[in-house]
Amino acid sequence: MVVQFWWRPRKIEHHFSRQGIRGPPYRFFIGNVKELAGMMLKASSQPMPFSHNILPRVLSFYHHWNKTYGATFLVWFGPTVRLTVSEPDLVKEIFTSKSELYEKNEAHPLIKQLEGDGLLSLKGEKWARHRKIITPTFHTENLKLLVPVVAQSVSDMVEKWSAMSSGCGEVEIEVFEWFQSLTEDVIIRTAFGSCYEDGKAIFRLQAQQMVLAAQAFQTVFVPGYRFLPTKRNISCWKLDRNIKKSLMKLIERRRGSSKNIVQENGSKDLLGLMIQASNSTPNITVHDIIQECKSFLFAGKQTTSNMLTWTTILLAMHPQWQVQAREEVLRVCGSRNVPTSDDVVKLKTLSMILNESLRLYPPTIATIRRAKADAELGGYIIPRGTELLIPILALHHDQAIWGSDANEFFPPRFSEGVARAAKDPVGFIPFGLGVRTCIGQNLAIMQAKLALSIILQRFSFRLAPSYRHAPTVLMLLYPQYGAPIIFQPLSRKR
Ligand code: HEM
Repeated sequence: MVVQFWWRPRKIEHHFSRQGIRGPPYRFFIGNVKELAGMMLKASSQPMPFSHNILPRVLSFYHHWNKTYGATFLVWFGPTVRLTVSEPDLVKEIFTSKSELYEKNEAHPLIKQLEGDGLLSLKGEKWARHRKIITPTFHTENLKLLVPVVAQSVSDMVEKWSAMSSGCGEVEIEVFEWFQSLTEDVIIRTAFGSCYEDGKAIFRLQAQQMVLAAQAFQTVFVPGYRFLPTKRNISCWKLDRNIKKSLMKLIERRRGSSKNIVQENGSKDLLGLMIQASNSTPNITVHDIIQECKSFLFAGKQTTSNMLTWTTILLAMHPQWQVQAREEVLRVCGSRNVPTSDDVVKLKTLSMILNESLRLYPPTIATIRRAKADAELGGYIIPRGTELLIPILALHHDQAIWGSDANEFFPPRFSEGVARAAKDPVGFIPFGLGVRTCIGQNLAIMQAKLALSIILQRFSFRLAPSYRHAPTVLMLLYPQYGAPIIFQPLSRKR
């Protein structure tokens, strides 16, 4: 006890201070949790002005201690120490040139239960094997086959908005909620293909689990608490059993079907690819398939819906860009009601807008790696087991990388492509970097472009008077008070 909560932290502090790395002092057992919680509470206690300088509100501890201790400092989450790293050269070492020295850290047990033991958290050979099997789901040719399916889901959504607006000529929509249903729909189709209804039922169970996990997250974390038969834990275990049972049934049914790999439209889905792999190698078990489905559903839904939400908010805040994006969509799509896969590629202004949105409001604001062995990072000696926190949001807002207008919404900075947008390409990593980069990136972008272009074709929109600008984080970056937007249908005779 004394060793873990007193002697070891002191030793680590001493090790780093000899190398010039400091941070807020460790306090017995709680580390810096009290200050961290205080700063977060204060920052989120009221909305902020309509500005994109969101770092002080969202990552208040980083903003605050960076000023005192510099960009590379130690911070204590209880007895767990994390070293913040946001120097581009060091970030490159961690993710690319010396990535073999670092691994994913162990997720919080509650998160682990939600995300499953799939691609997101697997390590080593098992991760490499699974990544190889699942990758074809996201090949360009496969995604092209999904375009009409996604477009249909978006069209159904906007039809409902139009119906809601008839009578008064406009309608207020809580886009944060609608976009979650939309992305849920798309992920289910990508993961489960034609078994959509069963996939949806499984998703419902997962959503309930997520609510329980979020509740548990807000209470004090007591080691071992998750094994106690509390009311919440019993509900959680029951949900877990039901998710497993439903997925097992679905897998058995697909195994017996002639369309177990390729769907009617020729596309390949996650479930089919995993089943195919399990037929030829004993290394892939039903348990693995269950875990991958969970991981997929967890990783793909809210990230994409949050990106859509922030982009819609930005287009409502910056009507001149909304007009430009709409003009491009109408020019490229002509009289077509929904864009084709070829159209999607041509929407350059929309691409710039999406990149600028991912820069200013990246759904994943930070990621963590763990040193597998003692390592050298940019000349610093990092002891084995040290966790490195890479604040993606801070890199995206760094004036040294982006210039003095880093906090401005300025899509043309991406006009020459992503690699040339900043002084250093590492300044833009919304989907991560290196071998563990996001597998669903192209699906997310395709979906966002389709959704936004169909919305732009049909509506003009503005922020509702009740909108309060309050980006905040609970696992992902989201609008604390929602995103109410007023949509006004456009005349279709253009
Ligand atoms: C705007 C949308 C998205 C964002 C911002 C995003 C962000 C990220 C980031 C930052 C990582 C790397 C994490 C790390 O290095 O620690 C990641 C990994 C991952 N993402 Fe995404 N993601 C998005 C959409 C999706 C979608 C649609 C899917 C699946 C359908 C998906 C599945 C995954 C998976 C499976 C991984 C783990 C990959 C591996 O380690 O091999 N993501 N994502």
